[in-house]
Amino acid sequence: MKKDIYILAIESSCDETAAAIIKNGREVCANVIFSQIELHKLYGGVVPEIASRKHIEKINQVIREALEEAAMDLSDIDAIAVTYGPGLVGALLVGVAEAKAIAYASGKPLVGVHHIEGHIAANYIENPDLEPPFLCLVVSGGHTHLVKVLDYDAFEIVGKTRDDAAGEAFDKVARAIGLGYPGGPKIDKLAKEGNKEAIVFPRAKVDGNEYDFSFSGLKSSVLNYLNQCEMKKIDVNRADVAASFQYAVIDVLTTHAIQAVKSFGMSKLAVAGGVASNSSLRESLKKACEEEGIQFYHPSPIFCTDNAAMIGVAGYYAYQNGVRHGLDLNAVPNLKIGQRI
Ligand code: KG4
Ligand code: ZN
Repeated sequence: MKKDIYILAIESSCDETAAAIIKNGREVCANVIFSQIELHKLYGGVVPEIASRKHIEKINQVIREALEEAAMDLSDIDAIAVTYGPGLVGALLVGVAEAKAIAYASGKPLVGVHHIEGHIAANYIENPDLEPPFLCLVVSGGHTHLVKVLDYDAFEIVGKTRDDAAGEAFDKVARAIGLGYPGGPKIDKLAKEGNKEAIVFPRAKVDGNEYDFSFSGLKSSVLNYLNQCEMKKIDVNRADVAASFQYAVIDVLTTHAIQAVKSFGMSKLAVAGGVASNSSLRESLKKACEEEGIQFYHPSPIFCTDNAAMIGVAGYYAYQNGVRHGLDLNAVPNLKIGQRI
């Protein structure tokens, strides 16, 4: 009988301190997330220095809780996986230093994981039938990418944002209409009370690559609309602004993703990253996939926003492919998808 493989995973690239234990790449034995959102809310966004300090305070605790939740100790673990980029350098360093210390003390192998490859791998958790190849729409606070997932460790970027990431646009528009940080979930909720056709915001087309995105024009257009209302002393219907803005983002994301799946002759579409927990985006992609005969996959919301379970899944496949990092592993804030350091 094949031996079960257990990965202890650590994630600290932004404002979540997280640890998880994954069995055989697909089963979550423990998933502990300490969210720092309440701390950063005060400042309207993530403050890197505060994030690093809080990671230092919480990292041992989340790892201990993960081992307790799985009723395991370090001797049951086969390898330590950790996010080493992209992300905030100070935040990443806390997770990387912790993983190196555990690997050194326990003699277990160390596997560095790319944060976005982790987001993509979150799709494997609840979809046992999902295997590459498939197309993945990655939409997070820092990234908007269309990625061909050719294999568990082979990726090709076919489109990306030229300016703001989708999540960044959600956060900026939310701030402009007074919803606070993080904006995505708040816009998602408020949009349900609004009319998505009340205001027609632009859908940016970019020259060069039909699969690239641009969201800064849309964001400016929302800000202009709000300024004009203020100048003309017109009351702003915030729910209509939220719904119309969200519709413009979702429209572009859906059209690009479906077009890419079709023209690359693929049959499966997955979505990943914090914005993938947006209820209207999921509905829109699901409907479009049904119409086109494409199989659609998405993680549960808890595996869309930052977590360590997804790092454990990506770490498992990297471990099985022989990826091993030395104790000289460093944080790489601008690590590229598919890049191995
Ligand atoms: O993947 P993630 O947790 O962190 C990064 O790797 O960036 O993504 C965070 C982003 C934030 O911009 C947040 O506003 C957005 O995901 N987000 C959402 C929703 N939940 C989180 N955006 C739209 N609708 C949501 N329900
Ligand atoms: Zn993320």
